[in-house]
Amino acid sequence: MTKTMKNIDSFGHLRGESLFVDDVITKQNTLVGLVFDSTCAHGKIIKIDYSQAEKVEGITRIFTHKDILGINQIGGIIPDEPLWAKDEVHFTGQPIAFIVAKNELIAKKARALIQIEFENLPVITTAKAAKNKDSFINEPRSFKLGDTEKSFADCHHIYKGETFTNGQEHLYLETQGCYAYPLENGNIKIISSTQGPTQVQKATSKVLGVAMHKIEVDVTRLGGGFGGKEDQATAWAIMAAVAVQHLKKPVKYILNRHDDLRMTGKRHPYESSFKIGLDKDLKIKAFEAEFLQNSGASADLSPAIAERTLFHATNCYFVPNVKTTVYSCKTNLPPNTAFRGFGGPQGMFVIESAIAQAASALGIDKRLIQKTNLISENDTFSYGQITTNAEAVNSWISAEEKFDLVGLEKEINHFNEKNDRFKKGMAVMPIAFGISFTNTPMNHARALVHIYQDGSVGISTAAVEMGQSVNTKMLQIAADTLGIDPEKVKIETTNTTRVANTSPSAASSTADLNGKAVLKACLSLQERLNTVAAKMYNVNEENISFESNFVFIDFKKTTYLWQDVVAQAMLERVALTENAHYATPKIHFDKAKEKGHPFAYHVYGTSITTITLDCLQGTYEIDAVKIIHDFGKSMNMGVDMGQVEGALVQGIGWMTMEEISYDDKGKLLSNALSTYKIPDIFSVPKKVEIIPLETSGNQMAIYRSKAVGEPPLMYGIGTYFAIQNAIKSFNQEYKLTFNSPYTPEKVLMDLYKNKG
Ligand code: MTE
Ligand code: HPA
Ligand code: MOS
Repeated sequence: MTKTMKNIDSFGHLRGESLFVDDVITKQNTLVGLVFDSTCAHGKIIKIDYSQAEKVEGITRIFTHKDILGINQIGGIIPDEPLWAKDEVHFTGQPIAFIVAKNELIAKKARALIQIEFENLPVITTAKAAKNKDSFINEPRSFKLGDTEKSFADCHHIYKGETFTNGQEHLYLETQGCYAYPLENGNIKIISSTQGPTQVQKATSKVLGVAMHKIEVDVTRLGGGFGGKEDQATAWAIMAAVAVQHLKKPVKYILNRHDDLRMTGKRHPYESSFKIGLDKDLKIKAFEAEFLQNSGASADLSPAIAERTLFHATNCYFVPNVKTTVYSCKTNLPPNTAFRGFGGPQGMFVIESAIAQAASALGIDKRLIQKTNLISENDTFSYGQITTNAEAVNSWISAEEKFDLVGLEKEINHFNEKNDRFKKGMAVMPIAFGISFTNTPMNHARALVHIYQDGSVGISTAAVEMGQSVNTKMLQIAADTLGIDPEKVKIETTNTTRVANTSPSAASSTADLNGKAVLKACLSLQERLNTVAAKMYNVNEENISFESNFVFIDFKKTTYLWQDVVAQAMLERVALTENAHYATPKIHFDKAKEKGHPFAYHVYGTSITTITLDCLQGTYEIDAVKIIHDFGKSMNMGVDMGQVEGALVQGIGWMTMEEISYDDKGKLLSNALSTYKIPDIFSVPKKVEIIPLETSGNQMAIYRSKAVGEPPLMYGIGTYFAIQNAIKSFNQEYKLTFNSPYTPEKVLMDLYKNKG
């Protein structure tokens, strides 16, 4: 098959020809939208006066909650979020009104003229403060395995600690945006930069008070989503649609970067605590953790993210006694949302911290505890899923051998003995990440495949292209299954009228779910064409196959062409369109018992991070990250390597430099790229080496090619512990802190704290 195919968008991107929502040619007299949002993080709206703003020349209309003909509610999991605030505001940046004008300049001018008065109410910005005030999104959830209390009584070593991981800004290159316009009979078409077109359609229909079939959502592609457009692309699309409903005119709204940063939620900050118990052989016998998730002002996807934190709270380790609890804490921040890893990274950081704490107290290397406790075949995760095809040990051993861990350690020790100012540190980070939406009913997809009568093919699925190259993978599957050249296949936009009732492109599952549906549809079509060809060439169906546009008989190439068979099928009135449905088999989860088999499979891998720390300045460089990654049987190694590299760097950014900061009044301080630092070319590892783990893959994955979008982000966590190890060799009195991101400022403090 076409395993080396380049991302099919690369030429278009390079030439600037790819169409993002802002590039779609708009209709004449398209109006422009702009949100007026709250400057107060928690308060009652005492008075709003739009009169000055409405007088600005070029203002069409200002929309508020009063203009909603359906319901003023956009909460997906829990109905707790109005589209536009009515009497109260709950976070700075909460939308209150939508200004529609001739152009953005005019809209901005009007926005500055809106007069608003608030009665301030108490503001909560941290999860802990929320918990102290019993301010929650929903009930807490707990996973339990065995009996931790009993087990702790038998443990030789017990350690406790606290951790913090900060949020993370998605910083997709393309900000949020949409373009909506009226069709006939009150129907509306929305082009949206969303990962979840059906979510946009459903929520729009509710707010507008119209049936779902009146709303068509189309997605060309995204300039990055990273989870930030799974739920949070919806509000803007609805606002534009409300305006279209009233004005019967096209309305476009592309958020500028400042507005996007201020108004959208981010990765959830977590404040957590742990208790870990080990026996004398370093086996982890018991693990307890309490996770305080800073959910922001409304639920958004927080409950699902909290759930995934519990799923990944023991990472890739087998722990026989587990008790983990997560609280979704309601604060006065923008609702936090999905971000690559979806709560998993936050969970994994805590057990890695617990292991580091234990190792430090025992005066041993963290690696010893990690390696001793890797999950193996037939072990049980805390949620009841029994491990099959476990690759944790394999990937660890493979990393040890292929990257000469012993040699690396010697080198580092040698360096540290010789150097005073600079110290090196190393950490190993093994991962296991579950693939499937944790909410079982979401694991399905459909594909609509047309073969046109000239032999060209058009494919529609629910997959949204956001840079992860899912369209390339869909194309590979179709070309491969039908036995035709890739040039004959076109991947259509993602559109709710062609493929309906879809799950968002998320959970790293897009290629698996949609790919399996494409495969199924293409297999059906191929079977039909086999019948036609068999008749044409007077052989049995079993003897026919297609490859590179040619008919093969008994695996021998003939001069007969694919398009001739298609043309004949047309004459014989054979259906050249197929619509296939795929639902992940075997998975289930019982929320009452918190047990089941939620994941189709797990992705494993092990990374080794080495860093050099400047102990005078607190600055550090990442020398190398070496990774053994479980791709299964990668269907496109170029694309998948890119996913590993991108996710790794995003994980490193989260752990080391990306510092979201709100003041105690709930105002975002890190509101520009001058105050929020993400990794650039100078801060990425000097070397990244990725070696695929040799496995047979997993049949639940499309072509046995395992999902790759999110898992490698968690290799970034190793950076934190590599830095810790470097500090340790400089400052023997260093007491481990688990407070991410480990910025050079914090590192500098820890280098000299209590140092003799
Ligand atoms: N890669 C790029 N270039 N851009 C993105 O927005 N999103 C990530 C990951 N890789 C993303 C990306 C996230 S959060 C997920 S869930 C997966 O891609 C989604 O795509 P997949 O299911 O096809 O892996
Ligand atoms: N992962 C990502 N997105 C999701 C999930 C999940 O498990 N569930 C709902 N949305
Ligand atoms: Mo990814 S966080 O599941 O969009």
